Amino acid sequence: MKIKAYAKINLGLQVIGKRDDGYHELDMVMAPIDLHDLIYVDKIKEGIIIESNNPTMPTNEKNIAYRAAKLMIERFNIKSGVKIQIFKHIPTQAGLAGGSADGAAVFIAMNKLFNLGLTKNELAILGSEIGSDIPFCIQGCVSRVTGVGESIRKINNNINCKILLIKPKKGVSTKKAFTSIAASNFDISYIDDIEAAIVTGDYALLKKSLYNDLESTSTQFVPEIMDIKNQLLDIGFDACLMSGSGSTVFAITKDDSILNAGYTHFKKSKCFVRKTSIINEIE
Ligand code: C5P
Repeated sequence: MKIKAYAKINLGLQVIGKRDDGYHELDMVMAPIDLHDLIYVDKIKEGIIIESNNPTMPTNEKNIAYRAAKLMIERFNIKSGVKIQIFKHIPTQAGLAGGSADGAAVFIAMNKLFNLGLTKNELAILGSEIGSDIPFCIQGCVSRVTGVGESIRKINNNINCKILLIKPKKGVSTKKAFTSIAASNFDISYIDDIEAAIVTGDYALLKKSLYNDLESTSTQFVPEIMDIKNQLLDIGFDACLMSGSGSTVFAITKDDSILNAGYTHFKKSKCFVRKTSIINEIE
């Protein structure tokens, strides 16, 4: 079975508080984007085999796709195994949910492959056991996401813009970004305006509202993030922001010539560069 595992960007990420288990309560606006890994999930006699075109990808429990398959096999007493082939296109340690997207794809594929009949909501609850971004990746629509990532409310997207992704060579570990985060102002919502902009299609509001509490922390580990942002603004993009815990920066414009100028400029560098757009809902 072939399945596409879509990346996401965070148009907004505010840290609201810290729980006793060390996880952070978040308020986010997340959007699937047109960038995906390609995953093949097939039944085999027994065990879990992971193969990838990327030799640095772990093929054991360290791989979130492996953990997703293991959870499904154990929870639903599945008597056979699975072979999972992952053709990676989403960069890792990028803040684009590359690993979570693969995990989500395995949940969706195994639900079909073994006729488990689980709903998206049931799959999302299972997914939350192994990764905070997996419920969003399973739901696959532009959403306001709260809790530690498990609470998802679909929002209608009426923004139409072009997006350039730039990921510097160096990535950021999500864990490291969260453990180093400075206290935030929890009294003000920086996310309400982003949702309002998206729902009403107010691009002028969106470009001044993009917000990410993790950006300054991750920039300490990868200073290139700030250089990239400055260059994108110099080229003429309307706004830019780091996605998730980084290190990818995305920039927005409505102008094809600016998009192309940014693409050409960063193609000469060592960065991952990609033109993309928001997908309202993954089919
Ligand atoms: O759930 P996931 O494995 O993606 O999270 C990676 C790390 O990010 C966690 O170990 C935790 O340190 C941090 N995290 C957090 N609060 C969240 C999500 C992740 O502190 N809501």
